Amino acid sequence: MKLDSIFLKNFRNYSETRFNLNSRINIFLGNNGQGKTNLLEAIWTLINGRTFRNSKFDDLIKFNQKFLEISGEFSDEFRTNYIKFSIIDNKKKLELNDKQVNSRKEIKKIVSTVMFDKDLSYNLGRSSKPRRDCLDSIVSNFSNEYRVLINNYSREIQRRNEILRTTRNDEVLDFIDDRLIRLSNKVSLNRRLWISRIVNLTNQIIKKLDKNISINLDFVSDSLEITKLKKKLKQNRGHDKILGHSSIGSHKDKITFLADKIDVFNFGSEGEKKTIALAIKISEILMLKKLEDRFPLVLVDEIGSEFDEKRLKFFYNFLAKINTQCFITASNKQLLDLKMRDHVLFLVTNGDCKKIS
Ligand SMILES: Nc1ncnc2c1ncn2[C@@H]1O[C@H](COP(=O)(O)OP(=O)(O)OP(=O)(O)O)[C@@H](O)[C@H]1O
Ligand SMILES: [Mg+2]
Repeated sequence: MKLDSIFLKNFRNYSETRFNLNSRINIFLGNNGQGKTNLLEAIWTLINGRTFRNSKFDDLIKFNQKFLEISGEFSDEFRTNYIKFSIIDNKKKLELNDKQVNSRKEIKKIVSTVMFDKDLSYNLGRSSKPRRDCLDSIVSNFSNEYRVLINNYSREIQRRNEILRTTRNDEVLDFIDDRLIRLSNKVSLNRRLWISRIVNLTNQIIKKLDKNISINLDFVSDSLEITKLKKKLKQNRGHDKILGHSSIGSHKDKITFLADKIDVFNFGSEGEKKTIALAIKISEILMLKKLEDRFPLVLVDEIGSEFDEKRLKFFYNFLAKINTQCFITASNKQLLDLKMRDHVLFLVTNGDCKKIS
């Protein structure tokens, strides 16, 4: 499926705009603050029913407006699909061919996306949580079940923390722990499995960039065995009551990538980290191709400043080879030197987007 055209109404700094897209590579140029990332966010939100930014739904609506709409026409050689996302009266609504859909699964059957921005290696290099979140969002892109699972788990942890901070009632905690143990075990087992698959693919890609690097997964978790997890949760309950939050469970899983037995995102060179981050993103694209038998649409936000020419070339050559639709933003024309075939250029200025060649 390719996105043929998009319509935005009151989305971020866009008042009302409609334009056609190229079926291969779309490059959005523009100065800072003009609406390039907003445009990628609109495409991503339309397909995923939520934003990739850390913002509330209402933040997506243009300042001083009350509703928003994003709609797009997608097609392949067999059919055309019309997807519409709107927020009206604080309620979001996703429609496929004029029928409301309640699960993102329906849209996923038709089209998927991968988002690549310059913060990836930075987030992977921060503490355990941002790294876990980053990888969780990649795995959630592969598996809707996993996404539901981690949402359920995080709701259960919030419930437990609430009791730890308020009534501290042991009967309620026993009840919550019973459910939490099953969820936590499932999250960690799935997480380990998916991330080890990512690591396998990532190593195949790294080889092409730098023969001297290969990574191993070091996955440390209390939740891989139910009996051990049960025991630890019980042991730590008193401590958790004092802390007011849960100290055991999948939200504490430690994921480390080792290169030559060294934690690469803590001690590796900047170049090594970037190579691995880039390879992880390419793995996400290849894994989706494996799972869904079609490439995802690829959204790339401003990676020109993060990666050097060798890595950029590698990535853009990869994009040029796979026959998928790409949306790439850049604030300077450096990117154009890479001579991507079959591309269309757009200029984004102050919430408006015009094709320039
Ligand atoms: N809800 C909103 N209503 C109106 N404007 C908004 C809203 N949310 C964000 N903006 C504005 O959108 C503008 C463009 O944001 P965007 O992140 O797309 O810029 P950009 O072109 O990607 O810039 P950069 O090159 O710096 O990344 C910002 O100036 C921001 O103030
Ligand atoms: Mg931007």
